[in-house]
Amino acid sequence: MADMTREAILEWLRAPQAEALFERARAKRVCTKGRGVFLRGLIELSSICSRDCLYCGMRKSNPRVVRYAMDDETILACARLAERLHFGTVVLQAGECAALWSRERVAELIRRIKGETGQRVTLSLGERSEADTEAWRAAGADRYLLRFETSDRALFARIHPGASESGEHPRMVQLRRMKAQGYEVGSGIMLGLPGQRLESVADDLLMFRDLALDMVGLGPYLVHPDTPLGVDAMQSEVPVSVDFTCRCYALARLLLPEANIPSTTALSTLDPVRGRIAGLSSGANVFMPNLTPAELRAGYQIYPGKICVAAPEADSLAALQRTFAQLGLEQVVG
Ligand code: 5AD
Repeated sequence: MADMTREAILEWLRAPQAEALFERARAKRVCTKGRGVFLRGLIELSSICSRDCLYCGMRKSNPRVVRYAMDDETILACARLAERLHFGTVVLQAGECAALWSRERVAELIRRIKGETGQRVTLSLGERSEADTEAWRAAGADRYLLRFETSDRALFARIHPGASESGEHPRMVQLRRMKAQGYEVGSGIMLGLPGQRLESVADDLLMFRDLALDMVGLGPYLVHPDTPLGVDAMQSEVPVSVDFTCRCYALARLLLPEANIPSTTALSTLDPVRGRIAGLSSGANVFMPNLTPAELRAGYQIYPGKICVAAPEADSLAALQRTFAQLGLEQVVG
């Protein structure tokens, strides 16, 4: 299965239904990862962003965002909460802002979190220099998440102001570099972007394998009305649906049997009732509860109606454990 062809992938993306695919992905997941679900505590450090991505509600040109930045003690308190909840890993994510998240400051945060809480540290701080990621690795960072969003270069350039259509995909350059620096590396895409093609999703999935990703994060594109793409009428060949997202989880599981694959917040937002059950039943083995202090969460609306803002209790540990029990899964630390 890991040698799946582009044609076989496209067939699954186009098939009238995909229950057999989900079945295979579930079996593969149990075989390579067991029945455990890893929890990663997501800490959204700041909603200040220097980028203007056309799809993202937190883009710098959106005046309606409540901009905040946590101080180091607040971040440490979030990491201590992850420790108390036995998560094992925290994910430090922020709008891209090198001035706020300087090389030295992030390195010190990594050292403190690891020293004081024993949590592993995953970074998700956007496009950064080789020297930055090198310093953070030396400070003890374990993993880095950077979605390439789409491997369709024309589409990538259209939705990322300043990105060029030619040359190597800037994010793939950074992903390969971080692999060489010894990170576990994660990437992913959005599904249903205006102008996105099924063929390009097949290429994205093959690219996951080509990059030998350790983690794959993908979710539906959710329209944000205060963005240029939110008022773009262009259609997508790629459905925004739980079913289609889960087909991509399943294909990612078969292409990369050992990868850690989260059932994402965007999927839970699209369908608060069925989203994460469907995700964890189609190959996903990770869940990322939001540990950002509740009073700050509204500022981090990359898309509207984010589940952790609309229903903060939805990813409470009790609710999660009920889902896991229902699916014959269990929380594991790692
Ligand atoms: N809908 C869904 N996902 C989004 N992201 C950003 N904006 C949106 C949106 N409107 C995703 C991107 C980014 C990640 C942090 O959130 O894939 O990499």
